[in-house]
Amino acid sequence: MHSAIPDIDQPTPLLGGLTPQEFMRDYWQKKPLLVRQAIPGFQPPVTIRDVHTLARRDEVESRLITHGDKGWSLKHGPFRKLPPATQPNWTLLVQSVDLHDDASAALMRQFRFISDARLDDLMISVATDGGGVGPHFDSYDVFLLQGHGRRRWRTSQQADRSLVPGLPLKILADFQPDADDILEPGDMLYLPPHACHDGVAIGNDCMTLSIGFRVPSQATLARGLLEAAADQVSAQHLDDPGLYGHPCLPGPDLAALYTDAGTPATRTPAALPDALVGATLETLSKIRLDRTVAARFLGQWLTSLPDSALFDPADEPPTLRAGIPASGRLTLDRCTRLMYCDQQVFINGEVAPLAAEPGLQTLADRRALEADDVRRLSPETLALLDEWLQEGWLHWED
Ligand code: SIN
Ligand code: CO
Repeated sequence: MHSAIPDIDQPTPLLGGLTPQEFMRDYWQKKPLLVRQAIPGFQPPVTIRDVHTLARRDEVESRLITHGDKGWSLKHGPFRKLPPATQPNWTLLVQSVDLHDDASAALMRQFRFISDARLDDLMISVATDGGGVGPHFDSYDVFLLQGHGRRRWRTSQQADRSLVPGLPLKILADFQPDADDILEPGDMLYLPPHACHDGVAIGNDCMTLSIGFRVPSQATLARGLLEAAADQVSAQHLDDPGLYGHPCLPGPDLAALYTDAGTPATRTPAALPDALVGATLETLSKIRLDRTVAARFLGQWLTSLPDSALFDPADEPPTLRAGIPASGRLTLDRCTRLMYCDQQVFINGEVAPLAAEPGLQTLADRRALEADDVRRLSPETLALLDEWLQEGWLHWED
């Protein structure tokens, strides 16, 4: 599965004639943008029926939201049976369709002018007349692309984001829209975090595709960094290296045992000795919370896959070590997440046991590498790529 990296200096219909650079400067995380015919003649990658079928699968995350006289209802999939296609006011939302369908993954990757570290998934919703998730806000950016039928989007820049208490989903208590647009297939609405919005299906054949992003909280980042540092210490001095300690990063020598020669006799034996508290704090000055440790956590965490990502290795993948095919290209599977930082390379939640070489970085950025470029890789890298081919993380395309 491959797709060219978007040219960030080229005006594109996808962003209403802006270049990706201009969009990132003026809109990203700042203000909504409505784009008419972002993808002219857009044909969604899957049908409404395909979305229903996906929602039957155990490993696929889906939700059914209905509303009516009895208020809002939320159910989690899998769904063996859905309400009739002619019954109004329901919507089915299926998460991470990009993991299950190549064309959906390729569509999502048109947005790779934003880092893979931020790009999350392609969610697809289908709705009957009046269906939607209600007026709400999200904590992350989203591109809402109309795939089929029509949807009325009302949005608001309001500051009051209080919610109706006691509901199974987030519904704004007092939604005051300041924009109101009907989106047709190929039209797209970008919303920054916390923009209030309400999308209501017009007709029974509404499909909306959401290109979603992930945002770590500072707490998540801090915890991850400390965990990676802890794993680094464990890898050198304790038996269990932990997730981020393998392979071991060079770290401080902390093998020395605590000493307390000269400690006076105590009248308060239950009190923790001040010297021990101080010695504990002093070890911190030996721990380096540096770029390598941060990258170790981020790389493994951001490339780790949800359980629903399944690989289907070729029966007899080529062995690159033994000889690179004359033509063709190496491609990443649609589910594969490959990232790098300085010398570290991360794939599907693991750190690769070798240093990044330029060809490997190109493979990660382009999600593909031509045969001629594969030929330039070191034997160690080729041996590793062979393992990834066996796993089905990579494929050879003729
Ligand atoms: C949708 O109904 O497809 C989009 C849900 C949302 O507004 O987040
Ligand atoms: Co939303």
